[in-house]
Amino acid sequence: MVRLSIEGREIEAPANCSILQAFVHAGQTLVEGVGCMGQGVCGSCRVMVRYSGELEVKTELACETLVADGMQVAFLDYFTRSAPRTYRIEEMGDSWQALRMMREVFPEASHCRHCSGCDRACPKGLDVQRGVNLAVEGKLAASSQVFDECVMCNLCTLACPEHIRPNHLGLFVRRMIASTSLRPANLIRRLQQIESGEMKIDLDAPNAHPPR
Ligand code: SF4
Ligand code: SF4
Ligand code: FES
Repeated sequence: MVRLSIEGREIEAPANCSILQAFVHAGQTLVEGVGCMGQGVCGSCRVMVRYSGELEVKTELACETLVADGMQVAFLDYFTRSAPRTYRIEEMGDSWQALRMMREVFPEASHCRHCSGCDRACPKGLDVQRGVNLAVEGKLAASSQVFDECVMCNLCTLACPEHIRPNHLGLFVRRMIASTSLRPANLIRRLQQIESGEMKIDLDAPNAHPPR
């Protein structure tokens, strides 16, 4: 067993469990800061972590980080900002407009000061700064690949002194690439089969609906 502090509460937990499991194990109720409950895909369980004997505070996902003796943990609320970036991808027209639209929606992106704050904050180890700079250079396909495994935890946005919102820029680029690319051939073929009636959909089939 290890002893640690989560949200200022001293708890005990088995050494091989995650911060999230430790919190639940200690009888605490989680009503926020959790989504996929351990899959590491929803980005909800943002925490600040300080290990015993270290000064540095790191940002992690609570469901992917193992507890350690003397660790201090604080959950980070989802935060909203006063100036949301809004856009409609369908208004972009063709891909010739992509760069112009990106600069209009994310004018701060070109102000990146290469501080690597976003890289250090990212619990998924993504090259966030590189993704931002590739987008600014117009290398949108390469930028979208950097953000492929982003879980939208927002920690890079929290860390960015220029208010660039790197993950939202990454999502924008990925949406843009998807909207200007040919859809997967299998998907197109299957939709055509459904439209032509060649493939029937039986909504009353067993398991056609999720369990209530
Ligand atoms: S890029 Fe940003 S939002 Fe995405 S996982 Fe990394 S820190 Fe979280
Ligand atoms: S935190 Fe912001 S300013 Fe710093 S490297 Fe990342 S995107 Fe650039
Ligand atoms: S609970 Fe979803 S990423 Fe941790």
